Amino acid sequence: MTAASPEEREYRRRTPASKRYFEEARRYLPGGDSRSTLFFTPYPAVFARGDGCRLTDLDGNEVLDFTGNHSSLVHGYGHPALMEAVGRQLDAGTCFPGPTEPQLRLARLLSERVPSIELVRFTNSGTEASLNAIRAARSFTGRRVIAWAKGAYHGTLDETMTAAHPDAIVLPFADPDAAVRRIEERAGELAAVLVEPVQGSAGMIPATQEYLRRLREVTARLGILLVFDEVVSFRVAWGGAQEHFGVTPDLTILGKLIGGGFPLGAFGGRRDVMELFDPSRGAPVIPHPGSYNANPMSLAAGVATLELLTREAIGRLNRSGESLRSRLQETLGEFSVDARVTGLGSLFAIHPSEAYAALRHRIFLGLYCEGVLIDPRGVGTLSTVIGAEEMERFIEALRVVLGRLAPAHLIPSEARDLLSGNQTPH
Ligand SMILES: Cc1ncc(COP(=O)(O)O)c(C=O)c1O
Repeated sequence: MTAASPEEREYRRRTPASKRYFEEARRYLPGGDSRSTLFFTPYPAVFARGDGCRLTDLDGNEVLDFTGNHSSLVHGYGHPALMEAVGRQLDAGTCFPGPTEPQLRLARLLSERVPSIELVRFTNSGTEASLNAIRAARSFTGRRVIAWAKGAYHGTLDETMTAAHPDAIVLPFADPDAAVRRIEERAGELAAVLVEPVQGSAGMIPATQEYLRRLREVTARLGILLVFDEVVSFRVAWGGAQEHFGVTPDLTILGKLIGGGFPLGAFGGRRDVMELFDPSRGAPVIPHPGSYNANPMSLAAGVATLELLTREAIGRLNRSGESLRSRLQETLGEFSVDARVTGLGSLFAIHPSEAYAALRHRIFLGLYCEGVLIDPRGVGTLSTVIGAEEMERFIEALRVVLGRLAPAHLIPSEARDLLSGNQTPH
């Protein structure tokens, strides 16, 4: 076992209650939790409260949340307008054996914003939305195989999590020519091509407009459905990333922020495809039951969220995102950390180069101890309640963390050789 880093020692010192929770939770839950991606060593912090952009853990440490529950909370915790909408729904009832008003309101809002969504259905998660978009594509085309781009995450589905799945092929993400060739080779078997216009879990990496256009062209030509997974990317423009890139898919998958902090997913698109789910003209071609489908608590929160997420609000978020990305890049440069900052709109990620990869976890733990939470993978998102002051605190925290690491780890290797007299002659 390697010795704990100074950042890990400090993290342990500050979070004994999280440690106790984790030790007990492991007795009942595999790995002590129910979300694989939230685990990090030595153990994840356990949160007790969220308020605006601040989270408080079981030990009372307060951190600024730059994850927004992995991009779900675009207005932070406990936004008054959301609380009011959800409170009203709570009074009226949490679920019903029939359609509800908030369902119609959110469906209308989504199709007003995203013209390609002619008809939509609601699920409980992005995973279920992916699953149903795939069912739709298979039924519509009579084909079975799904293509997805390397690095993508479309939810907890075998087809899109296992590269060697018999019903899936993996496309290169950055190489449109190679992706188009792969699609052409398997055209007769392909039901759908799924793509994240901005790859989220892979580290907030935007596709190029050319890549998306080429996928659109080849799928239209070969009768394959093009599915945009906008679970993460929806926030980059009023009408989602499809508006930003000017490329129109056949189907769209949504989730996370459209539920305003409650579980919700949606899939929608072309009328002729979505009509396969219509039970009003006899048995539907694709049945889609689900006890909590379109649950009104999530829908009410979703309506309030989208009403607050105006074009102006998105513009402000995107400008803040741009400024944060460039300041992060600048700060990493100041300390000679070879790392690239990626993202689009209010999405960002820090990618240390291979030589600095070992520092990723130390930076993450160090930031936590300085009161800033990002995803352990270096990924983050902004919310409308994060202002200039919070962004300043993020940069300051990063400076402190990198400053502590600097003497031992951050001096570029040539300078270290110079200092230690090990300079090799050229
Ligand atoms: C792009 C993308 N698609 C789908 C999903 C799955 O959504 P959910 O976690 O709601 O099942 C996620 C979740 O992280 C995602 O990032």
